[in-house]
Amino acid sequence: MTLPPAEIGPGEFYPVVGVGPHPKPWPTGEQYDPELLENGDRRNVLDHYRYWSVAAIVADLDKKRNPLRIAIENWQHDLNIGSIVRTANAFNVASVHIVGKRDWNRRGAMVTDKYLHVIHHPDVADFKAWFDERGIEIIGIDNVASSTSLESAKLPKECVLLFGQEGAGMSDEAVKACSRVLANAALNEVRLRLIHRWLSPPLQELLQMPNLEVNRDQGLLENLD
Ligand SMILES: C[S@@+](CC[C@H](N)C(=O)[O-])C[C@H]1O[C@@H](n2cnc3c(N)ncnc32)[C@H](O)[C@@H]1O
Repeated sequence: MTLPPAEIGPGEFYPVVGVGPHPKPWPTGEQYDPELLENGDRRNVLDHYRYWSVAAIVADLDKKRNPLRIAIENWQHDLNIGSIVRTANAFNVASVHIVGKRDWNRRGAMVTDKYLHVIHHPDVADFKAWFDERGIEIIGIDNVASSTSLESAKLPKECVLLFGQEGAGMSDEAVKACSRVLANAALNEVRLRLIHRWLSPPLQELLQMPNLEVNRDQGLLENLD
């Protein structure tokens, strides 16, 4: 751990976040990372997780994940995948699925992908097989010809919401893999990067997370727990 206290981390806008070196005596427990205790913890994590190793944080989050899963097609390296991943992290979803190219632009995720289970599927068939094996419904989110209304849809708590790409939207193959595709009338003029703002309130309701605050100006979500 070599991050000096005032260095701006990836995706961070403020020079100093977090806490400095922990005064001695150090707290004991397997969750603590000696390097963070020694050098300080400048990560953008909840105070509760200060000085915890990433593995310990992930293990703790695993105990309280929501059954919702989020997927996104990645054939053209959209820059906005990161913001979808970041929103998925705010909902502490069970997993995030990247369908298509393995590499995606992580900048917008602001390191949140470290705390999630991100699963890559090289093609739609592999993605569909993963969900079929587990009996989890695949629901597309796009305004295609066969779409029905997102606003009036009843979503199961355990499902995967599959998003399309910025330009092309969902591929035909992806649409076929879905049991249904839902469109929001209010989203028609909206680009993918803004979708999390619109989707957040219905997801909050679905997951019964009233303590999640949506900041509409920034498009950010903060878990107030
Ligand atoms: C900018 S859209 C591009 C494709 C879109 N079918 C169109 O008409 O332009 C990128 C993605 O945003 C989401 N999206 C856009 N409009 C939507 C809507 N009205 N309802 C649900 N999702 C939408 C979908 O996941 C879509 O694949």
